[in-house]
Amino acid sequence: MATSIDVFAKIHDNERVAQAAAARSAGLLPFFREVQSPARPVVEMDGAPRIMLGSNNYLGLTADERVMQGARDALERYGTGLTGSRFLNGTTALHLELEDELADWMGTEAAIVFTTGHQANLATIGTLLGPGDTVVVDTGDHASLMDGAIQSRAKLRAFRHNRPEKLEQTLAKASRDGGGVLVVVDGVFSMEGDIAPLPEIVELCQRYGARLMVDEAHAVGVLGARGAGTCELLGVEDQVDLRMGTFSKSLASCGGFIAGNAEVIEFLRLQSRAFLFTASGVPAAVGAALAALRVIRSPEGPELMARVLANGERLNRGLHELGFSVVDPLPIRVPGGAMETITTPIVPIRVGEDWKCVLLWRALYDAGIFTNVALHPAVPIDGALLRTSVMATHDVAILDRALDTFATVKREFEAEHGPLPGPEA
Ligand SMILES: Cc1ncc(COP(=O)(O)O)c(C=O)c1O
Repeated sequence: MATSIDVFAKIHDNERVAQAAAARSAGLLPFFREVQSPARPVVEMDGAPRIMLGSNNYLGLTADERVMQGARDALERYGTGLTGSRFLNGTTALHLELEDELADWMGTEAAIVFTTGHQANLATIGTLLGPGDTVVVDTGDHASLMDGAIQSRAKLRAFRHNRPEKLEQTLAKASRDGGGVLVVVDGVFSMEGDIAPLPEIVELCQRYGARLMVDEAHAVGVLGARGAGTCELLGVEDQVDLRMGTFSKSLASCGGFIAGNAEVIEFLRLQSRAFLFTASGVPAAVGAALAALRVIRSPEGPELMARVLANGERLNRGLHELGFSVVDPLPIRVPGGAMETITTPIVPIRVGEDWKCVLLWRALYDAGIFTNVALHPAVPIDGALLRTSVMATHDVAILDRALDTFATVKREFEAEHGPLPGPEA
């Protein structure tokens, strides 16, 4: 039988496309919804206000006048775009200042700024590793880390999410693969909001001689006294080789960075394709990130971080009390040896089946709350989650209004569609 060489052929009967079309025509597509107002605690969507519980704007700095001014000043000074790579005509004083201040913040020798966080991961893993090496990932790692692993063509070994004993078995195998070994984990996992047990991971990497990279996308500007992330919070900053962060969450902009040893950063600057062969971040994005970083490092930073964490706890507690099955973070070893449960701004709710999750999303949306939906394959089959997340700028009244709405929606939803998973799930 002749096979088509038309690469578009598979699109015609693609299941995902068909499902999206069906969901769209039924008004049930939770994705690509248009936001019609600035990114704030309450946004306008479909012409009505919705409480935003589906952003990564953890500190609410996208609406901060100083951050907006940072973007405006950069726009005025350098124009709308740099029309070239950092390597050629795309480096400004803003990029260099930002790199210096990021390295100072992270307490590393150097830092390098990328156009997106995704590119930072792609560039770093794709450049440092090659065929013959091994990259060890947690099964919950972000897709951009997996993309870096694929690009590197190194051997990929995955260990079960947040299970150090599984990492140990994987490292034992990886150390016999014959090449270099890099372990890569998220500091805070993006969907579940739980934290990697870094002290145990560091100890294992040291025992086996593997390098360690931590993706702090959801942790910078949120965790640690300086807001330097999970590595700071867990007291392992000096023992982690590379720390990655994005500007697209607490830093209220777009872009990403890697912080680490000067020699490695210089190597990435000269060798990484995702750095060299793409245009530099637009000046407004870099100016906003720099201004946001300065707010985080000012005396106001710790107050904002305390507020977002308190909001996370309030939402977590409230959803528990309403009988939702909230994904709780597991206790983690903190400096001093005690085990503590650390709440993050991410508060996911287990729903189970995909269709139920989408219907619940729509019911909440109609009642004035925007949340994020995580369906298979982003989560295991029948492991659909409604991912909620808070901002420092959500005030108590907004969160309480959201919880009242959750209560009403849950009651009506369960009357029509049967019970949602309870706290014991
Ligand atoms: C854990 C993690 N790493 C990396 C990225 C990629 O960052 P960006 O969206 O800034 O490209 C994201 C964001 O989606 C993320 O959640």
